[in-house]
Amino acid sequence: MIRSGQPSVEDGLGACVVLCPEVVRCVQKLCYSNRMLALSGLGPPAGTPFSPHFGGTPNTLVGRDDLLTTLGSGLATGPNDKWYTSIVMGVRGSGKTTILNEIEDRAAADGWVVLSLDAGTPLLLDRITQAIAHAGRSYESLETVADTTGRSVGKSLGIRLGPLEGKLEASDYFESPQTGLREHLVVLAHQAMKYGASVLLTVDELHAIDRGEGRRLANDIQHVTRRASLPVAFVGAGLLEMRRTLMRDRKMTFFHRCEDYELPPLDDVDARLGLASPIEDAGGSITADALHLGASAVNGSPYRLQVIGDTAWRLAGAPAKPITVDTVESAVTAANRTVEKNISIPAWQDLTGREKSVLTSLAGRNGRSNVARIAQDTGISNRQASGLLTSLRDSGYVAALGDADYAMTGLVSPRVALDPGSFEIDTVETKHETGNRTYPKRLRCRKWMPRARAYCVMGEGHAGRCRSG
Ligand SMILES: Nc1ncnc2c1ncn2[C@@H]1O[C@H](COP(=O)(O)OP(=O)(O)O)[C@@H](O)[C@H]1O
Ligand SMILES: [Mg+2]
Repeated sequence: MIRSGQPSVEDGLGACVVLCPEVVRCVQKLCYSNRMLALSGLGPPAGTPFSPHFGGTPNTLVGRDDLLTTLGSGLATGPNDKWYTSIVMGVRGSGKTTILNEIEDRAAADGWVVLSLDAGTPLLLDRITQAIAHAGRSYESLETVADTTGRSVGKSLGIRLGPLEGKLEASDYFESPQTGLREHLVVLAHQAMKYGASVLLTVDELHAIDRGEGRRLANDIQHVTRRASLPVAFVGAGLLEMRRTLMRDRKMTFFHRCEDYELPPLDDVDARLGLASPIEDAGGSITADALHLGASAVNGSPYRLQVIGDTAWRLAGAPAKPITVDTVESAVTAANRTVEKNISIPAWQDLTGREKSVLTSLAGRNGRSNVARIAQDTGISNRQASGLLTSLRDSGYVAALGDADYAMTGLVSPRVALDPGSFEIDTVETKHETGNRTYPKRLRCRKWMPRARAYCVMGEGHAGRCRSG
């Protein structure tokens, strides 16, 4: 529900007037959408209406309206709404970063202070603090540097608030002389409150958060948002395995209490719209049969949709020529290789040796099998096989078909599971989820440690005991 008197979600997240500290980045993001192309001249590389990269804003966002409406309403309603602190989960390429981008853009457009971070690299808490300080430097209105003496700041600052101008009295923000993240967030929240605005903190790649940092972050946001009821909304995003790690950690209760949402696969209607609409918008055309073929190859994955669309567009020589069945057939074959490289292989590398054996067994039986056969193939007990399949199901690698039957979902392709060696997985440079950088992937042990509620972070085949970090 939106607070009475507030605009609808379509109108925005609320009539707030505080400049966005990340405004430059937010505007850059917006530039990737159609809405801004005319204004900026930026956007996807010329010639393709698709975004075959991680973290790119698609021309047509499909299948996520309900989530965006609910999430937007929750943020607009305020700290008492359960969606005010939420976590979006999904497999690689399911559109997690895209959802964060969309919510950030909507919030920034409505004057929220947006802090957009990812936990894929170390020192997250320091980087959040830096982002808050950056807000203070960018806008005179935001007095975000904590006063270490605990004294009242009590000074008057000239401010510019978008189209408005005004004066800000900054005072009495601190009860504690400490200057940790919590205090900085409290200061920022108070600043935002002066103008009826809110702060949105987003953390992408949440699954990769360092355990110690995760605990500190959880405590700090818990304090600011829940105990002090300050307007600091939190939206995290990460892989499904978070259910077994940080969402079960007893010292991160904040994350358990967040509203969690698993991104569903795109259905056929979404897939058709996601392919046809960008083609049409860019002045191209696709035959009915070709659209049917392309949509059925999407297999629920937004990333795959973008790669198929982009490849078909280029192969056909669109928009000058129509996209036909022949070009879509070739595009799907080429897209399969791209998806294997950028999704299947990193997903495969995240598995333990035993989990890999289970997938190999499934792949050897046309992607579908049952607990008893898998146990037999891999030389483990039925109970062990069942436990591994449950874990693989929770992380999106397999789907349960009932009666102890399981099928591969396509997250790891049968080719990768049957012959991983041919993909040179030890050396492949994998695109980082956010698409901002590449880094070499190392194989990790990743054995699940029930007491620590974490995966082992040591290298595969390491000596000595497993460690959680
Ligand atoms: N709902 C959607 N509709 C169409 N394309 C999407 C959608 N969500 C994501 N995409 C596209 O899919 C690709 C992968 O999305 P991304 O958000 O990076 O996935 P993730 O963060 O889950 O790995 C991007 O190119 C993005 O533009
Ligand atoms: Mg991502």
